[in-house]
Amino acid sequence: MYEDLLPHTLPTEAERLDRMSHAHDPDTFATIERLNLPENAHCLDIGAGRGSVAIWLAETLPHAKVIASDLDVSSVKENTLPNIALEEIDLRADELGSELYDLVHCRAVLCFLPTRTEVLSAILKSLKPGGAFVVTEMDFRRVASGPSRFWATFWTAYLEFTASQGWNLEFGATLPGFLANTGFTEIDARHIQPILNLSGNTAGAAEAQTWSLTLATLAPKLIGGGFMAEGMLTEALSIIRNPEAWTAGPGFMVTSARRPMT
Ligand SMILES: C[S@@+](CC[C@H](N)C(=O)[O-])C[C@H]1O[C@@H](n2cnc3c(N)ncnc32)[C@H](O)[C@@H]1O
Repeated sequence: MYEDLLPHTLPTEAERLDRMSHAHDPDTFATIERLNLPENAHCLDIGAGRGSVAIWLAETLPHAKVIASDLDVSSVKENTLPNIALEEIDLRADELGSELYDLVHCRAVLCFLPTRTEVLSAILKSLKPGGAFVVTEMDFRRVASGPSRFWATFWTAYLEFTASQGWNLEFGATLPGFLANTGFTEIDARHIQPILNLSGNTAGAAEAQTWSLTLATLAPKLIGGGFMAEGMLTEALSIIRNPEAWTAGPGFMVTSARRPMT
């Protein structure tokens, strides 16, 4: 389970989640801004991690009510915003309610949940008619097929490890179709493939740092579980950590969709 491999109590986890936010917040914020949410929107961020999206929503829409939820909300950054509340929600077990939200946001969460299709139905039900869902999920299909044989072999081995955990890091590729089959409408999707380069204070550098920390944390499982040799992981990390390399990393599908009005 996700919380066994990447618990919030790991000494590097807050930094890893902050790096992830730095890498992906610009695309998430641009997607949410296109939706023209009402000023007093009710918003729910599920699997919020450090809460960067929930905090940005509460700051940007001071009349909104925002819930930052996660299995473990202890990592949400401290803030004094009056319009944000924390709630422990386990998407495998807890109800999300009915017709409550103008926006539900979720990023890099569903791919870790074997019950992801049931969770999509619960999210649809939790939205008010016309309410919006913004969801970003990993889409590894392109990185697992190139650009070099080594890079494809490395990420394919990583995918085999994640599949053994019940994770589906290719879920993003099929996300728009899943949204349509679940009953969402106005589905807008774009695939992004960040270029990893460790220099500077850029989103691409934050993405490289996120993968560097993720792979270092999972190294004992990747190697000990026989999914890859130590030399393969060392070579992949040297590419990710090379400030002079510009290498396409795993992709993400950034989507928005709405609950139909009727
Ligand atoms: C990769 S992090 C993404 C964090 C945040 N959404 C972001 O993009 O910065 C995945 C998050 O999902 C949460 N999570 C994992 N399984 C969950 C579950 N069953 N219910 C709720 N949250 C879960 C984790 O605790 C973690 O905070």
